[in-house]
Amino acid sequence: MNINQEFKRHRRLRSSASMRSLVRENHLRTEDFIYPIFIVEGKSKKNQVPSMPGVYQISLDLLEEELEEIYHLGIRAMMIFGVPDEKDEQGTGAFIESGIVQEATRIIKKAYPEILVVADTCLCEYTSHGHCGVIHNHDVDNDESLKLLAQTAVSQAKAGADIIAPSNMMDGFVAVIRAALDEEGFHHIPIMSYAVKYASSFYGPFRDAADSTPQFGDRKTYQMDPANRLEALREAESDVEEGADFLIVKPAMSYLDIVRDVRDRFNLPVVAYNVSGEYSMVKAAAQNGWINEKELVLEKLTAMKRAGADLIITYFAKDAAKWLAEK
Ligand code: PBG
Repeated sequence: MNINQEFKRHRRLRSSASMRSLVRENHLRTEDFIYPIFIVEGKSKKNQVPSMPGVYQISLDLLEEELEEIYHLGIRAMMIFGVPDEKDEQGTGAFIESGIVQEATRIIKKAYPEILVVADTCLCEYTSHGHCGVIHNHDVDNDESLKLLAQTAVSQAKAGADIIAPSNMMDGFVAVIRAALDEEGFHHIPIMSYAVKYASSFYGPFRDAADSTPQFGDRKTYQMDPANRLEALREAESDVEEGADFLIVKPAMSYLDIVRDVRDRFNLPVVAYNVSGEYSMVKAAAQNGWINEKELVLEKLTAMKRAGADLIITYFAKDAAKWLAEK
């Protein structure tokens, strides 16, 4: 019997590690990663975030130590979140010259000019009510918030931020931030827009880390409904028209179909945000000995690339950089 004729031999290309490596279609690189960090006020602080083992809130005086490690691992982009002691209705801490993100940016650019600083432009870590904009009549006021977001972006650029990443999901935020940056002479600073950001339960641990849980209501009037796909394309389309330079899809793991949609539809670099809850689930399972953490993390990050992500914002950046160097 000659069964050879009746079916395809796919296993030929999987016969050895070298053969598999030869035909591998997608690759993870340390250069793909953007590593998020949380900065608190005070001195000598390194508080582990309880729901995110391995992630710390650190104070500014410990930043250089952290940078040294990041730099030597080959990571060249970081995202900074500030966790201030004092908050107010307007989120003033987001846009003052002495704000935490502004201070951290100056330190990073001085110590390691090659590390790109991606500034998260939002108000929720700085507002007393924990929403991403200013409140009028129990809801976030879109246009009032835009003014403060533009001010925040400009102050971050003045401090030396290389990329502005607005995450607040107000309508028109890319247009207004682009205009404000241009007006201040920052034509050369790109906007990495959170083009597609769902109202997701996967952000829970981040809100512990950033102390940014809304004090009333939720974020569903500005972040997107997880049930929607066409809405994601509308959101991304308007950000492209308004001048975005990168498009973020967030969260990543449960939204890889959207990453693919955005990749196919637009020609800008696509960034997947592998969010806090996705990190914590893996860590919890690993701590229980239920999964092989290294293999699983490299698999899921590779899956994001396969889905079309060019870059990945991930709390696993340091671990993954180490694992990739071992290979
Ligand atoms: C909002 C913001 C959020 C995250 C980063 N910036 C989400 C939110 O609280 O609505 C979440 C990131 C994560 O979960 O890792 N400024």
